[in-house]
Amino acid sequence: MRQLSYFPHTAMNVPAAGLAEKINGLMGGGYHTYFVNSGSEANEAGFKIARQYMKHEYPGEYRFKTISRYYAYHGTTLTALDAGGMGERKAKFEPFSGDFVHVAPPYCYRCPFGLSYPSCGLACVKNLETTILGEGPETVAEVIVEPIMSGVGVAVPPDEYLPEVESLCRKYGILLHVDEVINGFGRTGKMFAHQHYDVSPDIIAVAKGISSAYLPIAATVVKNSVFDSFLGEPAENRQVAQVNTYGGHPVAAAVALRNIEIMEAEKLTERAATTGAYLIDGLRGLMTDKLIGDVRGKGLLIGVELVKDRATREPVSPAQITSVVDFCRDHGVIVGRAGGGRRYGNTITLCPPLVITEAECDRIVETLGQAIAALDRD
Ligand SMILES: Cc1ncc(COP(=O)(O)O)c(C=O)c1O
Repeated sequence: MRQLSYFPHTAMNVPAAGLAEKINGLMGGGYHTYFVNSGSEANEAGFKIARQYMKHEYPGEYRFKTISRYYAYHGTTLTALDAGGMGERKAKFEPFSGDFVHVAPPYCYRCPFGLSYPSCGLACVKNLETTILGEGPETVAEVIVEPIMSGVGVAVPPDEYLPEVESLCRKYGILLHVDEVINGFGRTGKMFAHQHYDVSPDIIAVAKGISSAYLPIAATVVKNSVFDSFLGEPAENRQVAQVNTYGGHPVAAAVALRNIEIMEAEKLTERAATTGAYLIDGLRGLMTDKLIGDVRGKGLLIGVELVKDRATREPVSPAQITSVVDFCRDHGVIVGRAGGGRRYGNTITLCPPLVITEAECDRIVETLGQAIAALDRD
């Protein structure tokens, strides 16, 4: 703060430039970064970038739609909310533009098609292709996905899901926009969750973990092939109008850069992979209790879905899940809840700090086990 308390983003600044370079390296090279202030804005910038890119690259077409998944969450601003697929969060603000089209999520525990993996043949990907064709590929700009969906209660897709989504994007000339706002920066045991699946997204939204939330900063990271579309002489008017007062704030950028350096020095991404596996193992050990329908996750992004009956998968009641959350908090363990938007909300979500120890994981398992055991059964 003493060196440079503020400088407009229009002219860049040293910490933000260093952070952009760092992110490019973490992505494996070939990416440019636009800085913003929140995950919502990072996705918003992605929508704008996808639309303008399509205007440049497909001049005779009108590619403006984003395809998203039901039960996804992509942010709180009007357009990010529209991109999300949680009806109850959107209802008070309707109607929306209709530019965001939704498909079924890869939520295998409650498969929207009533199928099971692998005999399903990835019906959710077929649903995506039908939607692209039904809408008309010449109207679609991008597909947005969170590699591991958090809002639905942590849905880890089958390994082929994201590569197949990417192939459809390539087949129809559509950009792949990946939302790494929760997934990114080590959380799932890779620096970015899409790196588990060997895909190469065109647009990546990052936030939260970039600074481990010490200061607000977020970014929209785009492939050079997308960025290059905006280069030209001023008279050509090709640049993307994407500046804001605080995006790339030098203090937040310096904090984010140092945060990432510490993550690397302490090998926190690798640690999230091993500690996450340990925690998931411990939680699966609780499955002797029939109220636990499913334990799933990757790294330190974990969901524990609670059901009244394993055969019918009927969700526990809102009062039951509230009592689990309250019990844990009263015993010093903070857990979240999610699942099917707020319709079910029957999944306990765990997203502990990447520095968590195995002893602390044991405490989570023990406390959650006690909370569930204490529930009144029907
Ligand atoms: C996957 C995902 N995308 C986007 C956002 C929006 O980020 P922010 O709250 O920083 O605007 C969130 C917030 O939780 C999120 O979970």
